[in-house]
Amino acid sequence: MAHDTQQQSAGLDAVLRSQAAQDLLRFITCGSVDDGKSTLIGRLLWESKQVFDDQLDALQRASRRFGTQGDAIDFALLVDGLAAEREQGITIDVAYRYFASARRRFIVADTPGHEQYTRNMATAASTADCALLLVDARSGLRTQTRRHAFIASLLGVRHVLLVVNKMDLVDFDAARFESIRDAFAGFAAPLGFAGIGAIPVSALHGDNVTRRSAHTAWYHGPTLVGYLDGVDPRRAVDSRLVFPVQWVNRPRAGARGWSGTVAGGQVAVGDRVRVCASGQTAEVAEIVTMDGALPRAGAGDAVTLRLDRPLDASRGDVIAAADDPLDMSDQFEATLVWMHADAGLAGRSYELKLATQWTTASLTAIKHRIDVNTLAHEPARQLQLNDIAVCNVACSRPLVCDAYARSTALGAFILVDRYSHATVAAGMIRHNLRRASNVHRQALEITRDARERLNGHASRVVWFTGLSGSGKSTLANALEVELHRRGMRTYILDGDNVRQGLNRDLGFTDADRVENIRRIAEVARLMLDAGLVVITAFISPFERERAMAREIIGADRFIEVYVDTPLAVCEQRDAKGLYRKARAGQIPNMTGLNSPYEAPLCADLVADGASGDIAAVVAELSARVSAPVATDASNRNFV
Ligand code: ADX
Repeated sequence: MAHDTQQQSAGLDAVLRSQAAQDLLRFITCGSVDDGKSTLIGRLLWESKQVFDDQLDALQRASRRFGTQGDAIDFALLVDGLAAEREQGITIDVAYRYFASARRRFIVADTPGHEQYTRNMATAASTADCALLLVDARSGLRTQTRRHAFIASLLGVRHVLLVVNKMDLVDFDAARFESIRDAFAGFAAPLGFAGIGAIPVSALHGDNVTRRSAHTAWYHGPTLVGYLDGVDPRRAVDSRLVFPVQWVNRPRAGARGWSGTVAGGQVAVGDRVRVCASGQTAEVAEIVTMDGALPRAGAGDAVTLRLDRPLDASRGDVIAAADDPLDMSDQFEATLVWMHADAGLAGRSYELKLATQWTTASLTAIKHRIDVNTLAHEPARQLQLNDIAVCNVACSRPLVCDAYARSTALGAFILVDRYSHATVAAGMIRHNLRRASNVHRQALEITRDARERLNGHASRVVWFTGLSGSGKSTLANALEVELHRRGMRTYILDGDNVRQGLNRDLGFTDADRVENIRRIAEVARLMLDAGLVVITAFISPFERERAMAREIIGADRFIEVYVDTPLAVCEQRDAKGLYRKARAGQIPNMTGLNSPYEAPLCADLVADGASGDIAAVVAELSARVSAPVATDASNRNFV
């Protein structure tokens, strides 16, 4: 197997390096094993003689032992056998296979068919010229088929072909094929494909794969391979130079170089280039590769650019042509494909990766989700696994970016969860939001420093977190009394109060709690700027949003206090009668009962809320608030 795999990937490299791009077609196959996808790919490899002799022997033996086809060859075993590559870690998400017809060569990206693998499908589709969507003639179109067609269109795949498989099991019934074909054509028409086709096949018996079937005299279109031979692979290409810097290195002693893969356009020795973020320009002195210097490089080439002067550019910067600058923006509207079981929430922050650029970002609005069956727009408060939705995204710094329709390199991004590091979404930018460039920070003459001097103390945020009834408000109140007595300027933001005004529109779903905390963190920051000691008392149940608050406010001025009171004690206190109501089924998402509370793992202080020793907590916090600001936040207690 290892030997075959090496041959396979050596061959793949050869195909990838092929200069005759017109001879090459990249396509993806979508569908589940049940639809016969493995059998179809196995047959394509087999009929194009891409199966090696030793594989063939093994296949014949395996077919007799494990196959479902009697003495005949079970093609699915071939592909599923190759799938062992995946377990060996050679290809992680998508298996690439190659074969050739008399006319051209093909790279087929085979993506696992389960619903949860939409993510792999998206990875593969971003470079595909054509998508083959497999359906079982007996069951016809499925939601997954429509979702795959939709994602393919979002990713700029220009041609889509519905492969109606297992025609032998419906007696090659023309009416059956035509009704599936017509339903699909109706669905796909508004998606903007250059070509939409449908072919009746039996992958198992080979009907209409490479040879015309004697069973489908009523079908006058091409065979599958005939169709693939005829697809026009041209995509609209963006001619602007896009060179995301992957790392800075020294190709020769003393000389610095900027390494990366050209993502779009061309660059030649002597060209003037510009670092997008800083605007600095320079001339390309040399283009270095593993195999020596080049006069010019184009999309897909991995090179090191040596420039004629030192520039300030590092990993994550993007180099463009000096006279053809690329846009920068920190806000855009994008279509997201949500790929994780954890819901996507507006207001929560994620890591965003676009080309080699990383930043934190959040969804500022979920505008609508798209029902993939009807393409209808629906309102949504949060994003679930496999949802496709149009959202506004705000980044914490401007990125070099563009609409996906204009630049696949600068328009596609992923969102990564900041704690689990899982990829949670793939996004395609629809357009940048102008508001980003029209709002500028106003420099104010009276600074926080000036206010702090006037007040005679530093501003701070003391952030209490804990269950309802844990004692946050009681502690916050006692602390404020003490600080006030010391002559400090203070203000309390309390959950029950703020929810009657500023946050009147928010309830207790996860999404609303995230937004609640985001707003409070922003308000607390303004009050911090005003020179106050701000004390907040919110359940703030999620680690991610507490981390966000720490970031917004600044770690050196943020004191997180976990009021650690066992649920049983809170429930026994039940000052507002909420636990009783929740137990009676009248409150659907009560924190601690049927809505989660993520206890802090590294609060600055843990207060025992059950002991009732309020004075000790107040004394400790008063001391910390009165101490000078430590710039390295080293006064953090890990408990
Ligand atoms: S948070 O989860 O978004 O941080 P917040 O602190 O603003 O919550 O509000 C919590 C207060 O709202 C509780 O102290 C309680 O009085 C009230 N409340 C009403 N319904 C709920 C609920 N389902 N879960 C928790 N608290 C609730």
